[in-house]
Amino acid sequence: MASITIRNLDDEVKELLRRLAAENDRSMEEQARVMIRAAVEGQLGSAGRIDQIEQTLRELASARALATPAVVGKIPPRGLSGKRILLIIGGGIAAYKALDLIRRLRERGAAVRVVMTSAAQEFVTTLSAGALSADHVFTELFDRNDEHDVGHIRLSREADLLVVAPATADLMAKLANGHANDLASTVLIATDKPVLMAPAMNPRMWTHPATRRNRATLQKDGVTFVGPARGEMAESNEAGEGRMAEPLEIVAAIEALLDVGPKPLSGRKIIVTSGPTHEPIDPVRYIANRSSGKQGHAIAAALARLGADVHLVSGPVGIADPAGVKTIHVERAQEMRDAVEQLLPADAAVFVAAVADWRTENSAGEKIKKVAGEGPPVLRMVENPDILAGVGHHSQRPGLVIGFAAETQDLLRNAEAKLKKKGADLIVANDVSQGSGVGSSGVMGGDRNRVRIVSKAGVEEWPEMSKDDVAARLAALIAERLKTIVV
Ligand SMILES: Cc1cc2nc3c(=O)[nH]c(=O)nc-3n(C[C@H](O)[C@H](O)[C@H](O)COP(=O)(O)O)c2cc1C
Repeated sequence: MASITIRNLDDEVKELLRRLAAENDRSMEEQARVMIRAAVEGQLGSAGRIDQIEQTLRELASARALATPAVVGKIPPRGLSGKRILLIIGGGIAAYKALDLIRRLRERGAAVRVVMTSAAQEFVTTLSAGALSADHVFTELFDRNDEHDVGHIRLSREADLLVVAPATADLMAKLANGHANDLASTVLIATDKPVLMAPAMNPRMWTHPATRRNRATLQKDGVTFVGPARGEMAESNEAGEGRMAEPLEIVAAIEALLDVGPKPLSGRKIIVTSGPTHEPIDPVRYIANRSSGKQGHAIAAALARLGADVHLVSGPVGIADPAGVKTIHVERAQEMRDAVEQLLPADAAVFVAAVADWRTENSAGEKIKKVAGEGPPVLRMVENPDILAGVGHHSQRPGLVIGFAAETQDLLRNAEAKLKKKGADLIVANDVSQGSGVGSSGVMGGDRNRVRIVSKAGVEEWPEMSKDDVAARLAALIAERLKTIVV
């Protein structure tokens, strides 16, 4: 092959090549050759090759942007070192997120081998998946000319776990009914390894009785699911359940399934609350708040990764139940209180939920009608139970009680007062005002957080970081504290 002058490439492509080359332990010239050879030797269709190379570079650049570690300079722990993941990418709009997933898994030390369905190749190129996984991408069941062909049985034998992301309605239907008419479905039915599916589809497809039946069958057959979550769909004006779980949620589910990493919390029962509460006004209206549940769910997942038996009591949220956690869904503060009390005794409790302080005294049995000349209804409010204080002073109080204080003013003074009044050991204080300067969308609903840990010993300031990183650090702190508390 003729020599390649890297100097003549533009900066964006050069930077991309430099990173890929470093990751794959190749020179930049070698990396460029691997990519070009793959393009020329048929991983790309014969039509529109230049377009596809351009698309591939764009996909790789965006996977790189998505995967930039949340805390600059912080390398994620290599908790999946030595693990082999076979990732099956199905044909859905969320296929682009599978590219980010490959990178997240490799950052953690996993070897990733990719199978793509022919529909998946309509959404992302095999070249992107191949460059990110640093391996050949497998697409054909019958491919006698393919020097890389290792056969469907070997693909499954050489993996510790099979992950389907996005899992299309079609792939779920095929596996639930035993079809094996392409490489992906044949590998899935030929495996004796655990299978994790991350479904992604239009909400109507997800709620269709056929998909529900298939999901129930697959669960009975031992397939584990992560997601889908509720939220906006790629199609305009569509919202509901069907969004693929985020790559980091899938990584968490993989870690839980493979049971990797130290387990300092094994044998410990921990209760976590998360999300908002909805306090009904009438059957169609309610009082709520902007809590997304992201921080509470991340804490539950981080505690489960350290081996805790986690019971998550979640208000109504649009995100997936965390993997490896027992989740109880509630709506109102009173239901949350009852669920938490029923879970006692426990070793620790972390109250992250943004529980409404007040509810309407009596919610109307029928929708309140607008009556001409009568003016708006007057809502009489009464106080909700204080769940944190209730548990902080309970006869079965857990050894470690942690509350969250979301404040818009006098953050520290309010957190310190809360610590005393509620009988908590620690208060995690965060400034949820719009002007807090955290992330682009603020703390509530956003992906980042800046917290202070308030205890009798004083105040510890943590820098701004992703909610996942806050969760991991808090879980480590809880493990440390519980070491001194004998069961
Ligand atoms: C633009 C477009 C987007 C699609 N998105 C999805 C999706 O998100 N989820 C899904 O299950 N099917 C989706 N489909 C349908 C699948 O691509 C189709 O069922 C295909 O046969 C799936 O093949 P596979 O399961 O072998 O990947 C989409 C189709 C099109 C044209």
